[in-house]
Amino acid sequence: MPEDGPVVARTREELRAALASTGRPRGFVATMGALHEGHVSLLRRARAESATVVASIFVNPRQFDRADDLAAYPRDLGSDLDVCAAAGVDVVFAPAGEEVYPPGSATTVDPGPIGRVLEGASRPGHFVGVATVVTILIDLVAPDRSYFGEKDGQQLVVVRRIARDLALPGAIVGCPTVREPDGLAMSSRNERLAPADREAAAVLRRALLAVRDAHAGGVTDAGRLRTTMLEVLAREPRAHVDYVSVADPETLVEAEGSRAGPLLVSLAVEVGGVRLIDCEALPAG
Ligand code: PAJ
Repeated sequence: MPEDGPVVARTREELRAALASTGRPRGFVATMGALHEGHVSLLRRARAESATVVASIFVNPRQFDRADDLAAYPRDLGSDLDVCAAAGVDVVFAPAGEEVYPPGSATTVDPGPIGRVLEGASRPGHFVGVATVVTILIDLVAPDRSYFGEKDGQQLVVVRRIARDLALPGAIVGCPTVREPDGLAMSSRNERLAPADREAAAVLRRALLAVRDAHAGGVTDAGRLRTTMLEVLAREPRAHVDYVSVADPETLVEAEGSRAGPLLVSLAVEVGGVRLIDCEALPAG
């Protein structure tokens, strides 16, 4: 790591120059900034496994389906660079919009049906936006390993799919979800929760733990597992359920009837106007 913090590249050309003389293996962490302990866990993992660590900080407009959500997204490059320096990042790619999407840019990456369910159903176009930017970033950075959080379970499934289908360089590494002491998954959105809503938000984790316990205790019926989650969520009046899902972890098709696993259990819940997501992988029975 350079003593005086990471090299900051603002353009594709600067990124190429910054990477030219760096060692392999090269680890890459893509972010939208507002870095917290969840991001830091990915950076640390990359640091431990790589000669060179590259992080990107880019609030990708194409993955937001609502202009107000994009406008509300927190941006503070100065403090993000401090976090990157402390985590030992070598190169930060912090491009302006036109560096990622040159004027007239028209090509998109569509991951197919897995991008249209769950988050993709609630946020049309979201995963085309994610898949497009991740393809561009991995292509520019050319990493040996790219690290993504399991917290965004569907995103990880989508990224693995496009990496396979498009032969993107390097491996995709999933990393465990970092949580607050009450179990709430760390997210930049948590800052928007009023105190009573912040407390209520712990219900997402309780719902996932209930389903994990039920599954470990021998409940394999997908419908019953969904009901288990809904019952926990119904006890928290501040929580408004968008979806609960018990699905195949690769195709994301909803499971029906008795299924031993593996399964991806996920949910999206609105608390105090803030949409929160979380998930849990259930092992093969
Ligand atoms: P962002 O929300 O900034 O997240 C960047 C990475 O950090 C993702 O891989 C995400 O899964 C991971 N992450 C976030 N919170 C986490 C937590 N509590 N524990 C572990 N990992 C966590 O996800 C995106 O940005 C964007 O969609 C991106 C991939 C950068 C494309 O624009």
